[in-house]
Amino acid sequence: MAKARQAWGTRLGIIMAVAGSAIGLGNFLRFPVQAASNGGGAFMIPYFISLFLLGIPLMWIEWTLGRFGGGFGHGTAPGIFHTMWEKNRFIKYFGVIGIFGPLIILSYYTYIESWTLAYSVFALTGKYAGASTQEAMKAFLASYQGLGGGKIWPAYIFFIITFAANIGVIYYGIKGGIEKLCNIALPFLFIFGIVLMARVLTLGTPDMSKPTWNLANGLGFLWNPDFSALKSAKVWLAAAGQIFFTLSVGIGVILTYASYLKKGDDVVLSGLSAVGTNELAEVVIGGSIIIPAAFVFFGPVDIKAVAQSGAFNLGFVTMPLIFNKIFLGALFGFAWFFLLFLAGITSSISLAQPAVAFLEDEFDISRGKAVAIFGAASFLLCQPAIFFLGRGVVNELDFWGGTFCLVLFATVETILFAWVFGMEKAWEEIHHGADMRVPGVYKFIIKYVTPLFLILILGFWFFQEGVPTIMMKGIANADKPFVLGTRIFLMAIFAALAVMVKVAWKRKRDREALKR
Ligand code: ALA
Repeated sequence: MAKARQAWGTRLGIIMAVAGSAIGLGNFLRFPVQAASNGGGAFMIPYFISLFLLGIPLMWIEWTLGRFGGGFGHGTAPGIFHTMWEKNRFIKYFGVIGIFGPLIILSYYTYIESWTLAYSVFALTGKYAGASTQEAMKAFLASYQGLGGGKIWPAYIFFIITFAANIGVIYYGIKGGIEKLCNIALPFLFIFGIVLMARVLTLGTPDMSKPTWNLANGLGFLWNPDFSALKSAKVWLAAAGQIFFTLSVGIGVILTYASYLKKGDDVVLSGLSAVGTNELAEVVIGGSIIIPAAFVFFGPVDIKAVAQSGAFNLGFVTMPLIFNKIFLGALFGFAWFFLLFLAGITSSISLAQPAVAFLEDEFDISRGKAVAIFGAASFLLCQPAIFFLGRGVVNELDFWGGTFCLVLFATVETILFAWVFGMEKAWEEIHHGADMRVPGVYKFIIKYVTPLFLILILGFWFFQEGVPTIMMKGIANADKPFVLGTRIFLMAIFAALAVMVKVAWKRKRDREALKR
């Protein structure tokens, strides 16, 4: 008999929590840069194809599998996969990816999230106001990150505050912590987003000596399609990767959130509502802030140069420079960075929850104890991203945790769902308590198109990015030991989690044998 699990307070609560997990730094920092560097408007074609053939089906699959597993007392993939395919002794080890992936993303995500908190404070206190060129602002950022002779401790203090806030929310549980935070944070996030969007859309032509640097061209820079980009596999991979990252699918977190649903709770309309909310925040709001703003102040050549010089430079270098130039810039700067912080924390708590749920469900320990163990372990896991930031460690963590694992995990869960569980049973399971029917064509899509698409992506990925990444192409010789060290570190974490699964299952078997 499964022990009583936590539950969501309201239906709106879980939609807000899943939307909160989805809406993150990916929507406001990653999406515009990806779109602008992969064909602009043409990027939206593979983006929307990936949304309909991967994102939405995976959202439904994960909500359904999570609710199914929750009914057996399992909130994470090892237990859920095992329940779906009891005869297979190994499938639970594939499920380890669903705890490992979020943990690895969390190990760098929380640190970046802490920069947004720091910069919200800096905006109000005028700390970055003295920097008036790209070089000066870049130097400010580098020095804050402890690079180029800067002291790391202010960043470390903000990291500790951010980390503690995450742990605090998780400690208060699904309803008292996660749901409560998302119910408050999401409306504020949208208010800040709409205010910033309105400000950017009224920027006009700030410098009359450069009449082409205007808003219409800024929006055109992001949205005008360059169809030749569609011939490149890289663009399709980038679009699919963005869909995974932004919707938080293939990570394992939606499974865990959905495991706290009740059997009769709708997943179809709720899953779709969460997707819709995320897309509104990404395409409409995320697409209307950083690129158009950077364009009207710095022009098309600079945007490309800045975006290529570092993944976060448009958000943490260009944006503060713009705020330094506009009226009430301190307040708009605060709105921008605090928006990012809210987006970040509502995502990072979802990355933390699978590991906590795993400890609670499979080792039968209290939430307090699970959070304490998780807190200590994940604190240590975050250190490499902080201290070896300039050494290619974050890229490495992001490649394995934030890209490769997502596609691999999604492939495994889709095949399990459609082929092992069986499409007829799966279809029935999706529609338990559903408030709307899934269009019939999705039966075909989930069974054939989604897995095929995933396998293709996995294959292309392996050859285009996997092989050069494994061979450490493009990594400076001085950084190679750090990248290699990260790989050993990742393998050790995966192995430790696999051993934990083994121990948990053995304990369960022993307990059952005793009962008999
Ligand atoms: N879905 C989260 C984001 O977009 C992880 O940042």
